[in-house]
Amino acid sequence: MEEGLEVKTLPRLGEKAPEFEAVTTQGKLKLSDFRGSWLIMFSHPADFTPVCTTEFIAFAKIYDELQKRNVQLLGLSVDSVNSHIAWIRNIEEKFGVKIPFPVIADLDKKVSQLYGMIMPGESKTETTRCVFVIDPNGIVRAMIYYPLTTGRNTDEILRLIDALQTTDEHHVATPANWRPGDDVIVPPPNTQEAAEERLKQGYECKDWYFCKKKLPR
Ligand code: BEZ
Repeated sequence: MEEGLEVKTLPRLGEKAPEFEAVTTQGKLKLSDFRGSWLIMFSHPADFTPVCTTEFIAFAKIYDELQKRNVQLLGLSVDSVNSHIAWIRNIEEKFGVKIPFPVIADLDKKVSQLYGMIMPGESKTETTRCVFVIDPNGIVRAMIYYPLTTGRNTDEILRLIDALQTTDEHHVATPANWRPGDDVIVPPPNTQEAAEERLKQGYECKDWYFCKKKLPR
């Protein structure tokens, strides 16, 4: 491992997201400033690159939907704040899209190392395409890592937020390819008695371990 790229702690699901303070395009921000909101913190490899430009436009396009769900966005790359500002202005000029969220200028790589965003096998100098979903209590709830060459799917990120918020509100799980309005999974029972009991609840059960239910609309 190259000196200076050592990752000491990696965020883990279900644990507190490491605190940081960083310079952004909207001034200095701390992770704890987002307490009380959901946060999608995402990294991109570099400003003024085509895939990243498509991603910034895609994130800007779901911004209002995220706001409705109490979700803030925070971008990051190891470029300077001046580079971020110039790129954001260029996106507005060339694509007619305003970038409404702050972007961290992680020139000293402090945040990227804290979150394991640099994968030296892919690039020693750029952050890969990471997404950290952090809940209003500062807990890491989901992580997505994509390679440099693949742009992320913002529909999936919105779906993930809907799934996590549905889980929290209704104490259920969500099946593969679930969409809001679909039936949800009743978490498996962990006692024999609970297994018997759930078969009497009126759920749609294939068997004692596989039960779905509708949520109130
Ligand atoms: C891009 O955003 O286009 C890109 C960035 C780094 C490597 C490959 C593509």
